[in-house]
Amino acid sequence: MAYFSNKLAFITGGSSGIGLALARKLFSYGANLIIIARNSAKLEDARRDIEQFRVSSGQFIRCLSADVSSSADLSHVIQQAIKEFGTPDILINSAGIISCDYFGNISSDSFDAVMKINLYGTRNMIAEVLPAMKKRGGHIVIISSAAGLMGMCGYTAYGTSKFALVGFAECLRGELKQQGIHLTIVCPPEVDTPMLLDEMKTIPSEIRILKNMSGQLKPEFVAAQVLRAVARKKFMVVPGFRAKWLWYTQRLTPALFRFSSDMIIKWGLRRK
Ligand SMILES: NC(=O)c1ccc[n+]([C@@H]2O[C@H](COP(=O)([O-])OP(=O)(O)OC[C@H]3O[C@@H](n4cnc5c(N)ncnc54)[C@H](OP(=O)(O)O)[C@@H]3O)[C@@H](O)[C@H]2O)c1
Repeated sequence: MAYFSNKLAFITGGSSGIGLALARKLFSYGANLIIIARNSAKLEDARRDIEQFRVSSGQFIRCLSADVSSSADLSHVIQQAIKEFGTPDILINSAGIISCDYFGNISSDSFDAVMKINLYGTRNMIAEVLPAMKKRGGHIVIISSAAGLMGMCGYTAYGTSKFALVGFAECLRGELKQQGIHLTIVCPPEVDTPMLLDEMKTIPSEIRILKNMSGQLKPEFVAAQVLRAVARKKFMVVPGFRAKWLWYTQRLTPALFRFSSDMIIKWGLRRK
């Protein structure tokens, strides 16, 4: 896509999963990249992987190690990057962690960690780039989740953080529009990434059955949908036919949606 050629993209969570798939694709379209995550070794592996998609000798990728939930840490790293490499044309917020278990099994610390990384991490990152982006426009992408559109049992921490991101995006969109900045919120169903390995440790089997309803996507498919939406300046993206269909059903007949979910969980519990 010529649209992304020579653009500068900052990608939080760019060392893995959806963020990495977006980085590969953007690099293959001629963009320059700053990828941000905590683990330096994983960032370096990702950089080597993304290099294979280079299309021009002038392109660059830089890795920045930072925790998006720590605003002081992040501020130093991002302001330095803006000084050195310029204001991003595109900011993609993909950094996030999962939690799936019944509410009583989620400690207060785990709940806090999910909110601090998924919600406040996104808020912190946007707050860091916004003053520079306001001067010349740009595009901000927030990766929420289908769990941020449809309430699912087991996702009290994760779903709360992702619903909050949808609300945050709805409120921020109108403000940014006046400043020449576009915003895209992405709500994918399950995506085949390393995050699922974390989820597998705690997800109850009956919730697994419910989750199967929305299907599983490949990160490359989600990345392609996101970049198409950015090029078209689309606000909301729900990738995948099944997730879209469930979302429409839930909006049209919320009581039926809740009844069906309850029946699936009841059936799953009986099978245990
Ligand atoms: N996979 C799914 O089924 C799915 C579905 C819907 C939405 N999503 C959302 O999509 C986004 C990406 O998920 P994914 O599946 O690609 O997960 P992933 O493969 O586990 O990647 C998560 C990325 O976020 C980084 N990260 C985590 N905590 C961070 C922090 N505090 N500061 C900076 N970077 C941090 C990780 O690197 P470090 O650990 O090194 O920091 C990693 O690069 C998340 O927001 C997730 O909630 C995922």
